[in-house]
Amino acid sequence: LREIKDISSLVDIHYIRQKEPKGLGDAILKAEKHVGNEPFAVLLGDDIIKAEIPCIKQLTNLFGRYNKSIIAVEEVPKEKVSSYGMIKGREMDEFIYRIEEIIEKPSLEEAPSNIGTVGRYVLTPAIFDCIKETKQGSGTEIQLTDAIKLLMEKEEVFAYSFKGKRYDAGDKTGYVKAIIDFALEKEDLKAE
Ligand code: G1P
Repeated sequence: LREIKDISSLVDIHYIRQKEPKGLGDAILKAEKHVGNEPFAVLLGDDIIKAEIPCIKQLTNLFGRYNKSIIAVEEVPKEKVSSYGMIKGREMDEFIYRIEEIIEKPSLEEAPSNIGTVGRYVLTPAIFDCIKETKQGSGTEIQLTDAIKLLMEKEEVFAYSFKGKRYDAGDKTGYVKAIIDFALEKEDLKAE
């Protein structure tokens, strides 16, 4: 009980509902008043990442070094390219890229590479004004990816090929794989 009580005193949790499904960019803008003028992390709950060092910690460490917005990325198979934000970058350091192009859910022909964004971002607060300038994009939603494109006109934005395994639980097979892989690691479940 003490352990659980201690967890609840570690952080203050504020939440806000996005009352209409107007896209990821719009959802993030709703949090502006909580974030204020500071860099902040975005974690998309349907991307589950198993890693020795939490993926967002890997990104915050790099933010500490470069002071630039930074997005987790990984290679994406051809048939999944149109499900993600896809980037092209110039390698700056091992596994770290400066993003030169970013496009939300492109066709295979439009995709600038096979590197896709994963739902972990550390962003500078300049993104909020960029979201305000962003018009409806893919799926008629206000896309974070499109706002990042505007941010790139003002600041460099980096991508990091993170260490760990990502499960896209927004995809049915990804969801099933995540459950089975995590169960296989549990002593009380793995044999069965
Ligand atoms: C969102 C983002 C997309 C990103 C993806 C990662 O898409 O819009 O750029 O690649 O998360 O999971 P969604 O999963 O909401 O379709």
